[in-house]
Amino acid sequence: MRVIVTGGCGFIGSHLIRKLLDIKKIKILNIDKFGYASDHSNIDEKLVTCNQSNYHFQKLDLSNKEELISVVENFEPDLIMHLAAESHVDRSIDNPSEFISSNIIGTYNLLEASRNYFRQLDQHKRSKFRFHHISTDEVFGSLGELGQFSEETAYDPRSPYSASKASSDHLVRAWYHTYNLPIVVTNCSNNFGPWQFPEKLIPLVITKAINNEIIPIYGDGNNIRDWLYVEDHVDGLILAATKGTIGHSYCIGGYGEETNKNIVHKICNILDKERPANKSYRSLIKFVKDRPGHDKRYSINSKKIKEELGWDAHYGLDKGLEETVKWYLEHLDWVKKTLEKSNYEGERIGLKSS
Ligand code: NAD
Ligand code: TYD
Repeated sequence: MRVIVTGGCGFIGSHLIRKLLDIKKIKILNIDKFGYASDHSNIDEKLVTCNQSNYHFQKLDLSNKEELISVVENFEPDLIMHLAAESHVDRSIDNPSEFISSNIIGTYNLLEASRNYFRQLDQHKRSKFRFHHISTDEVFGSLGELGQFSEETAYDPRSPYSASKASSDHLVRAWYHTYNLPIVVTNCSNNFGPWQFPEKLIPLVITKAINNEIIPIYGDGNNIRDWLYVEDHVDGLILAATKGTIGHSYCIGGYGEETNKNIVHKICNILDKERPANKSYRSLIKFVKDRPGHDKRYSINSKKIKEELGWDAHYGLDKGLEETVKWYLEHLDWVKKTLEKSNYEGERIGLKSS
């Protein structure tokens, strides 16, 4: 099996590649522009123990359509798993153009490269080929106190990030209906775990706390996310890509709903236990100006992927958080290096609109 993973130097993509490298007889091509949040050490760590000739990294921006067409053609993939995207809501508020370029135009270019390649295949290879588009639950908008997102929920994105992802989902479905490109889409809730760039809530809070800096909670802290440990997401991705029905989408969520306030409290509790300081880490919490257009609540109904493909989450929020905090405590050097090379110093972003 020959697999192209786009965005494999990102948080989820690097975990996916680690897991794919455990599968025998698989060749992987990782296409990534190597942006500010990219890192190769997660994969490097794994490559020490497996056959390196099964893995190849190509630094390439999806905006380069000509090069992309030739890379896809030359690699001859059976499967494309498309994760490359700008992924941080706050950055999308300050600089939406990068999101339009990578998430919409980038996906369009990859779809065209895939269509060009797919139409040259013989019948047997065509029947094996899949294009798996990895998306988010944020395309569905914001929930009130009740209800859950499912595959039937109408799209209602509210941030430049979620609108760009919704747009890419629509393009992928259009290439299925119009050109018969065999696609599968997954929409997942918030991921967390080791190797996540410290701009997203959980790694940012851990990093701030360890550095004895203010822990910022947006608004009143009562916004809710449905947290899923990254390894559980990766298991769902591999199932959907290999066993999912062509043309279908699958929602993946952890039944890990929690308010931001409680997530931060849980992290502080773990740190108080693992790395006690003079005062509880909770004393660093500060409620700060809310994010513009802040979605209130996300929650996923994962019934379809559970019943059709046998997926389930194994970690749970508390176990996953404990593992994650411990991992960051053991990898303070990685955090420091990653922040240095990205030019991000933990400053508040996403307020340029106001
Ligand atoms: P990430 O920001 O950690 O990694 C994204 C990677 O994509 C980076 O290495 C970046 O360099 C690469 N990339 C971006 N634009 C590119 C371009 N134009 N050309 C080539 N490479 C490009 O993101 P992540 O958290 O790993 O998310 C991966 C995917 O999963 C995204 O599509 C995201 O929308 C989706 N997703 C993420 C979450 C989450 O909680 N993190 C949840 C659901 C879905
Ligand atoms: P984030 O990790 O950016 O993911 P997303 O916006 O894609 O859900 O944010 C998760 C939640 O945490 C979101 O409600 C915003 C909130 N948040 C804070 O309260 N403080 C922070 O410093 C950050 C980065 C996020």
